[in-house]
Parts: sequence; structure tokens; C-alpha cells
Amino acid sequence: MKRSILITLAIAAALSCTACGKTDDGTASSRRKFTSPTEAATTAAVTTEALTEIAQETEEITTEAASEEETTAAEETTAAAENATTGEAVAAGGEAPAEDVIKTEAPSPEDPDYAPAPAKHDIAGITYIQGALIANKSYSLPADFAPGLDPTCENQFYKMTSDASKKGLYIYFASGFRSYDYQAQIYNNYVARDGQAEADRYSARPGYSEHQSGLAIDVNQIDSSFDNTREAKWLADHCHEYGFILRYPQGKESITGYQYESWHVRYVGTDLSYAIHNSGLTMEEYFNIDSYYHE
Ligand code: DAL
Ligand code: ZN
Repeated sequence: MKRSILITLAIAAALSCTACGKTDDGTASSRRKFTSPTEAATTAAVTTEALTEIAQETEEITTEAASEEETTAAEETTAAAENATTGEAVAAGGEAPAEDVIKTEAPSPEDPDYAPAPAKHDIAGITYIQGALIANKSYSLPADFAPGLDPTCENQFYKMTSDASKKGLYIYFASGFRSYDYQAQIYNNYVARDGQAEADRYSARPGYSEHQSGLAIDVNQIDSSFDNTREAKWLADHCHEYGFILRYPQGKESITGYQYESWHVRYVGTDLSYAIHNSGLTMEEYFNIDSYYHE
């Protein structure tokens, strides 16, 4: 088995020498790096010969390995059958994968998993509903409101990413608090690139971004390449257990005001995160509010 992996690597290495087109500084390039047609032909002939030898050897080893695998599989099946008779559930390929339990019952304040709502800011011009700060296209924030990333939100975020890493998932902080001015820069760049109508679908105007509240975090790639990853699925299924909600779910653009963002989570504390998650609603639907620019 290990030998066939080594041979596969040998083939890959042989191929990469001739076709990867790595430039001298190690950066990838689509160009092949032959200096002359003669050299190219010689290299190709040698490589073909080497590959033929490797292919023959691989075939032999693969056959050998296949029979080894069959023997191992048969032994495992026997072991599984034995375990079944003794009442132990063991999958034929090894240990049974742990079930992914999604919690639906909110922890009580005494529970170690309880995460409190973030502290409220007693400032005019901020809208709270049931203790939750609202920042969307209908509810703006004062331009001088610059709280930085909320410490409870930050702690809960790292608790979440630490638990994710224990499952072999890499979720990392990409963007958190953004000031009014910084959001203006980002938004204006998008408007210049895509036009205002398009930019408004995925970027908040200054004063309207949840990032200015210090309660929103973007993770990983911050684009649709994150959408179908194991990390994105785990985040959507479990972020409420840490006090977050996935703020802009798929198919809800007309309600939230924004396209699907698999990477944007909003901290609300576990009382509200479980309630919203269990409801299957967006924050707008849950509080029965809208999100559109009124001017
Ligand atoms: N991308 C989100 C909507 C923001 O700009 O705040
Ligand atoms: Zn975001």
C-alpha cells in the first residue's frame, strides 16, 4: 500500500519536472521551461522511458497491494462481525465517525456554554430590539460610533474556532470591527469596480455595516469559495452554540438586504442565537423589521 503511494509520488515528481513550469524563483507559471527543442525531445524520451518502467512496476505493486488490501478487508470484516456479536459497533474501515450533534437547547446562565449578550452602548442613534443592536440598511449607526471588536464576541469566536479545530476544521478570523471611514473606503472601491446597485447587494454603505458595531466577524476567504467547504457547513450548524448567528443566509437577500454570506457571523449571545437559529428565521424576520435604504 505504502509502496504504491511512493510510486505515485515518483510519477508525479517525474511529470512535474517536465511540465509544472515552475519558474526559477519558485512561482508557478503556465510556461514549459525547455531551453531548446533538442533538449525538450531528449527530456521527453527519457521521461517516457522512466514512466514506462514506473508504470510496469506500479502495476505489479498495485496488484500485490490489492491482494494485501483484500486480506486486510476480510480480516476487518471478520473483526467487525465478531464485535457485532459482542455488541460493539465498529465500522469496517476503522472507528465509526462521531455523530455531529447540533444543540438546540439554549444553555442556562449557570451553564459553562452560556454566552451573555454583548454590553449595550447607551448612545443616541443606536437601535436596540430586545437588547440586540440592529445595524442594517434601515437602521444605521452614528458615524463616530467606534467601539472596536466586542470582547465577549472575540472570546466566543476563539472558543468556537478552537472547538472547530478539534474536529479538524480550520476557521480563522478575517475581518472584525470596521470604522465608519474604513467601511466608506471599502464600499467606494466596490462602487468604482461594480457600480452602486451591484455593490449595494454585498457591501454596506458607511454607517450601515454590522462590522461597525464590533459584533460581526468574517471568517476565512470572505467570498463564495468558502460556501461549500466543511468549515462553512460546520459554522452554519454550530455558530449558535457560541452565541453567533449566520447573518445573511442563502435565499434571503430580499429580507436581509444582502446576498448570501457564508462567512459573516454576528454575535448576539446564546439566549438569542439559539432562539433565532431554532426559528429558522433571519434577524429581520425574527424581529419583524425591514432592511432597505430609505433615502
Ligand atoms: N458585507 C456586509 C454586508 C458589510 O459590508 O457589512
Ligand atoms: Zn461581514
